[in-house]
Amino acid sequence: MTDTDRERDRNKETAFYMFTQQTLPACKPVLTPAWVITIFLFTGCIFIPVGLVTLRASRSVVEIVDRYDAECVPEPFRIDKISYIQDDSIPKNCSRFLKVHKYMKAPIYIYYQLDNYYQNHRRYVKSKSDQQLLHGQKYHDTSSCQPVEFNNDHTIVPCGLIAWSLFNDTFKFIRERAELKVNRKNIAWKSDRDHKFGKKVYPYNFQNGTLIGGGKLNPRIPLSDQEDLIVWMRISALPSFRKLYGRIEEDLDVDDVVMVHLMNNYNTYSFSGKKKLVLSTSSWLGGKNDFLGLAFVFVGSSSLILALVFMLLHLRYRRPYGDTSYLPWNRKSLSV
Ligand SMILES: *[C@@H]1O[C@H](CO)[C@@H](O)[C@H](O)[C@H]1NC(C)=O
Repeated sequence: MTDTDRERDRNKETAFYMFTQQTLPACKPVLTPAWVITIFLFTGCIFIPVGLVTLRASRSVVEIVDRYDAECVPEPFRIDKISYIQDDSIPKNCSRFLKVHKYMKAPIYIYYQLDNYYQNHRRYVKSKSDQQLLHGQKYHDTSSCQPVEFNNDHTIVPCGLIAWSLFNDTFKFIRERAELKVNRKNIAWKSDRDHKFGKKVYPYNFQNGTLIGGGKLNPRIPLSDQEDLIVWMRISALPSFRKLYGRIEEDLDVDDVVMVHLMNNYNTYSFSGKKKLVLSTSSWLGGKNDFLGLAFVFVGSSSLILALVFMLLHLRYRRPYGDTSYLPWNRKSLSV
């Protein structure tokens, strides 16, 4: 055999591979009406119960939300709230009464909610130094912290706008003249405490400048134990957000009245933000949020309706499969 013969043979072999002939075994599903209807029915039957269970979990959560920023400004100052909040000589304490409308099982989570607060602003987000939070003064390149970087030529620890604007309202809870115990430990992520905030970094010169942005920190406690700061520095993606303040570890009964002694320190008035206090229980799915349940029920019922519509159409206009007289070009020739 010559070389060209051999070549031709080889070509002949490859030419008849199943792959080159596109005759490999393959799954070729045909979406017959029966199949489509069954799939829609099945989806509906799975999604609706899951949605109802999810919705039930969300509805079982008891929540008390109290907006206090407006009412905690004494009557004479209501016309000029900004000068009220900026004047340190006016006392900022305020009492609120929360009525419990449904039995609340411990642990009851305490959140503060801020509205219209853009923690996601481009320059705010960047204004911190992760390395400094972990290593402290040893780390010098803190230029990312601008405009809150230095105080008297010393770098501020922790530097940056986020830390500087730490939320500083405080809450105390009293029921029938006894103070409710609030557990303020373990409110931050463990991974943040262990790996992002230094165990030997102390906020020795924090909030010492002329312009005070928010909360102060105890300089004798390392950053890894300053949980309020850690919670605050995990910035929120949306302008309305809740942050965990603590947990009440006693049950609250129906018609209990909880008196809240709060210090209304934080200035949300200059940007028309709102402040709310939230008490909430939790379910196996977390807090109160109907969205997931409603989405499941919506998708499930849409599938059921589609299944029904298709079934009616199928029963009404039944015809054999593969009838070529229905093809458009055949139909046209029929009508001519
Ligand atoms: C709380 O933060 C505000 C700024 O929002 C500040 O003016 C005020 O001095 C702070 N108060 C305390 C007690 O830290």
